[in-house]
Amino acid sequence: MPLTREQARNHHKAMDLVAADRDLTRKEKEFVLDHYQPSASTTQALDGAFFTPREMARELATYDIGGDRPGERIIDLGAGIGRLAFEAVHADWRDREDLPLGEMVCVEKNPEYVRVGRRVLPEATWLCHDLLDAADMDLGLFDCAISNPPFGAISRSRDSAAYRPRQFEYHAIATAARVARRGIFIVPRTSVHEEHPSQRTTSCLRFTRETGIELKTTWMDADAWRDQWGGPTPRVTVVSADFHHPGLRTPNAA
Ligand SMILES: C[S@@+](CC[C@H](N)C(=O)[O-])C[C@H]1O[C@@H](n2cnc3c(N)ncnc32)[C@H](O)[C@@H]1O
Repeated sequence: MPLTREQARNHHKAMDLVAADRDLTRKEKEFVLDHYQPSASTTQALDGAFFTPREMARELATYDIGGDRPGERIIDLGAGIGRLAFEAVHADWRDREDLPLGEMVCVEKNPEYVRVGRRVLPEATWLCHDLLDAADMDLGLFDCAISNPPFGAISRSRDSAAYRPRQFEYHAIATAARVARRGIFIVPRTSVHEEHPSQRTTSCLRFTRETGIELKTTWMDADAWRDQWGGPTPRVTVVSADFHHPGLRTPNAA
């Protein structure tokens, strides 16, 4: 869908801010996050680059990622320009009660998104890399992995889930399981359940059977934000998972 005049004007203004030779104010960072248009890039559909709606990211950061957990190390797999990571770093309670994260690491393969992300969330470590390589990057163990990965049959460089599911989201979750203690993911609803959350889809049942990863449904669905994805109107849900790492230690552990 072509951009409206106003969207195009705001996108240019956002890019001027990204290029500015000074630090951005909080308001300017929010402007960039709100108005940068991934549809200005020709690879949006190929990379599944549809950014999380702002209010949904806020809700997720506050209640699911948990704005009251200071000192945690979090990794965002497929971070885009940092919408989800930004909300996790600046979650309401965290800013108000001064409960900063220990570290936020953003992995994103698109160099332009990384450039924008570094301007809106300079306190994060930005790695321009394939998220499917995260377990081989010597990053240590994270408390939490968050991801709104590309959905569906997006091309990938490797398989993280050995049974090679078609859906990229399962590979992202299997990657997260190797680098974090727990994970919070935005995924298509059909990758988890049918109309009712207790009815797991066949692909979800297979994912759990083959990987041992149990996906817990945190939300029924996220239809309230369905028309705020900047084009498509996906039916998504949020799932969490606990991962087990008997042999892994955090980089700072004694
Ligand atoms: C659905 S968007 C979500 C972006 C961001 N997390 C958000 O919530 O707004 C998925 C992102 O994953 C990125 N991506 C796609 N394939 C990737 C890969 N193999 N490695 C790293 N990033 C990837 C895309 O460029 C895009 O920015």
